[in-house]
Amino acid sequence: MDAVIEARGVSKSYLRGVIVLDDISLSLKRGEMVALIGASGSGKSTLIRSIAGLIPIDSPRGNGANAGQIHVLGQPIQRGGRISCSRALRARIGVIFQQFNLVPRLSLLTNVCFGLLGRVPSARGTLGRFNDDEKRIAMQALARVGIAEHALRRSNDLSGGQQQRAAIARSLVQGAELLIADEPIASLDPASSRRVMDLLADMNRNDGLTVLVSLHQVEYAMKYCPRTIALKDGKIAYDGPSSALTPAFLNRIYGAESEELFLPSFGAALEQGDGLHWADTEAAIDGNGHWSEPPTIVIPHAPTVAMTKSHAKAGRLSA
Ligand SMILES: Nc1ncnc2c1ncn2[C@@H]1O[C@H](COP(=O)(O)OP(=O)(O)OP(=O)(O)O)[C@@H](O)[C@H]1O
Ligand SMILES: [Mg+2]
Repeated sequence: MDAVIEARGVSKSYLRGVIVLDDISLSLKRGEMVALIGASGSGKSTLIRSIAGLIPIDSPRGNGANAGQIHVLGQPIQRGGRISCSRALRARIGVIFQQFNLVPRLSLLTNVCFGLLGRVPSARGTLGRFNDDEKRIAMQALARVGIAEHALRRSNDLSGGQQQRAAIARSLVQGAELLIADEPIASLDPASSRRVMDLLADMNRNDGLTVLVSLHQVEYAMKYCPRTIALKDGKIAYDGPSSALTPAFLNRIYGAESEELFLPSFGAALEQGDGLHWADTEAAIDGNGHWSEPPTIVIPHAPTVAMTKSHAKAGRLSA
């Protein structure tokens, strides 16, 4: 069983008649690192939450023949509008959010220990009573993400980037095999964003975690994720190599919305001929947004050359 995420015919409406996800099917193999991009409101968070088994997808209409279903790590996480996620399966899935989701007044160390809840008796764990061995595991994870020196500080006293790294450390101690992250860098400055993305890539490469990460900016998708799934109005507009995401191609998919997907300083860098260099990729993409040839794009520098002071000034800072 190679697929870590297998979603078939997934639809979702929060309100009757307003379709947010429209018959989405996708599959992620073990060891992949895949970006999910799309303009605001395209359905990224809804899809991520559905895959994580946090919200139910639509139940089938009519005779049930079209029941959407999602399997994660070979087990059903939901089917036809019913979440069926066991505690054991949940422990194998790490979920990271834009807002870090730490308990604000507890130390980073205790927050990271909460990743062990699936493995320690819940009476002790929910009270935040962890033994020395458990704390040692959490400390190792904090060291791995580079914030061990802050272990005893309250999480809400730390910067956004540090809190997000603690949330990643929590997934590490949890022993997650799949990491699903919903815009983990959306409220971080460029340096913290890079550190967080470097960590996700490191866990993908060195720990074999499969990673699905939604991102608002295509530059990060191109730098860190070999494959990108692009959502538009609840449908998959493209699923293939990230290297195909030229400005022209994104403009074709998204029209004026595509501007939202680039960092503010990106246009200027392109005009200076700095950063990314694309070959002509258009011919290789068929009308359904599927890739038909190996990519021929050369990216000599990381696109982050464009993410400097001007980006920070543009106001995506919180750390
Ligand atoms: N709980 C909800 N109730 C009703 N509508 C919702 C709910 N959550 C999301 N929606 C709607 O579903 C659509 C998709 O929202 P979603 O949050 O999945 O998009 P997104 O791609 O994550 O956007 P963003 O980039 O702004 O985070 C939007 O039109 C949104 O208003
Ligand atoms: Mg969202």
